[in-house]
Amino acid sequence: AKGIAVVLAAGQGKRMGGTIQKQYMDLCGKPVLYYTLKAFEESEVIDQVILVSGKEEKDQVRESIVDFYGFQKVTQITEGGKERYDSVWNALQIVDKMKDKEESYVFIHDGARPLVDDSILKRTYEEVRRSGACVAGMPVKDTIKIVNENLETEETPDRKKMWMIQTPQVFKAPLIIEAYRKMMAVPHSHVTDDAMAVEMVMKHPVKMVEGSYKNIKITTPEDLKIAKVFLK
Ligand code: CTP
Ligand code: MG
Repeated sequence: AKGIAVVLAAGQGKRMGGTIQKQYMDLCGKPVLYYTLKAFEESEVIDQVILVSGKEEKDQVRESIVDFYGFQKVTQITEGGKERYDSVWNALQIVDKMKDKEESYVFIHDGARPLVDDSILKRTYEEVRRSGACVAGMPVKDTIKIVNENLETEETPDRKKMWMIQTPQVFKAPLIIEAYRKMMAVPHSHVTDDAMAVEMVMKHPVKMVEGSYKNIKITTPEDLKIAKVFLK
């Protein structure tokens, strides 16, 4: 079996703001994306990494991150699209052309989650070999409420059933390719995470695997400060 990582780094980082995109911002002396790629480079369950970046940033990313730090598992740097699912789909089309795709697993991961670690990669790998589809996540700590347009609380789902979803989200390659192919063919049927495509389009169960409370997504400026603390 082969582990293929799709590392997504083509977003604009609107919620973060600033002049450079969050995946290239400094975290303890190195770009955020460095830590993300390093985790995959060093993991024995990963054979190859497809990096998805913005069109304008491709050459820069290759020179200043992939080559500079010597990430040998990065075999392709491809362009992203407008939405996250467009970026995923671009990478999945590369996987689709691989001759050993039937025996491969695809680890879809946010480039903006630099604190993913090898134990998460190993746990998700073990699970995907059993069930074909899994996502990393953690139980929510806060109570979650559904709120309507008037900011009135409407519902309080049972906290014990609520999990925050992280990445990696890991699938048998043919399953996730088929899910995306079907989803992309239907306008306005788009998803916010990869598991949704597999649940909704393929009706295939997706298992929850323990991630880590440290595996945060860098989204707003305070997240960079938190990541700095976790790194030390
Ligand atoms: N991403 C991507 N292509 C897109 C949108 C997002 O590759 N069209 C990537 C981001 O680079 C990030 C990950 O998907 O690593 C998670 O997305 P998010 O946190 O939403 O990042 P951004 O879209 O960049 O941020 P924002 O939504 O605040 O603009
Ligand atoms: Mg976004």
